[in-house]
Amino acid sequence: KPVVLSGIQPTGGMTIGNYVGAINQWLKLQEDHDSFFMLVNLHAITIRQEPEVLRNRVLDGIALYAACGIDPQKAALFVQSQVPEHAQLAWVLNCYAQMGELNRMTQFKDKSAKNANNINVGLFAYPVLQAADILLYQADQVPVGEDQKQHLELTRDIATRFNNLYGEVFKIPEPYIPEFGARVMSLQDPLKKMSKSDDNPNGYIMLLDEPKQIEKKLKKAVTDSDEQARIYFDREEKPGVSNLLTLLSVATKRSIEELVPDYADKMYGHLKKDTADAVVAMIEPIQARFREIREDQAMLNQIMRSGAEKASARAEVTLKAVYDALGFIPRP
Ligand code: TYM
Repeated sequence: KPVVLSGIQPTGGMTIGNYVGAINQWLKLQEDHDSFFMLVNLHAITIRQEPEVLRNRVLDGIALYAACGIDPQKAALFVQSQVPEHAQLAWVLNCYAQMGELNRMTQFKDKSAKNANNINVGLFAYPVLQAADILLYQADQVPVGEDQKQHLELTRDIATRFNNLYGEVFKIPEPYIPEFGARVMSLQDPLKKMSKSDDNPNGYIMLLDEPKQIEKKLKKAVTDSDEQARIYFDREEKPGVSNLLTLLSVATKRSIEELVPDYADKMYGHLKKDTADAVVAMIEPIQARFREIREDQAMLNQIMRSGAEKASARAEVTLKAVYDALGFIPRP
């Protein structure tokens, strides 16, 4: 079976952008792939975190993955720090990544602009740890949103460079980016990516937002003010409307082509109302399952334990091959 791997940062919950860009793809892939999905708490500490908050958010994240339908029987659902090979391989790859290429990463530029008082070495090396995450599992595909494309390119470059020096140690992974929904936009500014670090909470929907809040945010969504308020899909001409259509499509599991004719003679208000209803109908059962699983510490432990076991089994093999290629002698 082909292998897929992906991760989400356990910081401040998940947005509907994370769901549409990443988790929604994972749900399909887990059916016929060897799947590894993790919470990247090592990445999270590149920005200061409160220990107690981080602890809870990792547990929230595991419960939320499971509530969304990631099935621990089918996929390894695990916490990055519980599989030490991630940090170990990241160190090795640091020695095969160039300052110059990391300096070009747009996420680093954005994040260091936002955190000017704490531009730490970890933040700079963030994409190298991400490369280690992916290469450890010899992943064939990496399902992510569009913003991760550059990190995936870097991963491929580092892996190719390493292979050229030491032989075929790493599989070169492919990005797996959905055709629709790879970039869910802010509800307040549809030219900007939806992000949980947005100052205005009306710009994003969190999976754990109250249904009332979700309705309000979608009703306030900025639509496009061209003369004829027609509803059709066109990311350039109609970024706001296209964003709502994308959310409606995911929430109703109907394709965009199928949806658009229904709105031929309707108004923006109809689209917003239908999108709000559909998103709430999709999210409410997820929230109910989340509350159940989150209370069940034994179940959370079981998910993390079996996830980390499956992940370790695969990660160990790659790290051994890497150490061997480098000339490191195993502990006698
Ligand atoms: P993070 O937590 O920022 O984002 C998690 C996933 O959600 C996607 N995403 C979006 N997709 C569509 N529209 C949006 N508005 C939107 N916002 C976020 C992201 O593209 C991502 O797929 N560096 C990664 C975490 C990571 C990782 C990995 C991913 C660490 N190691 C290994 C894949 C493989 C990140 O920034 O996650």
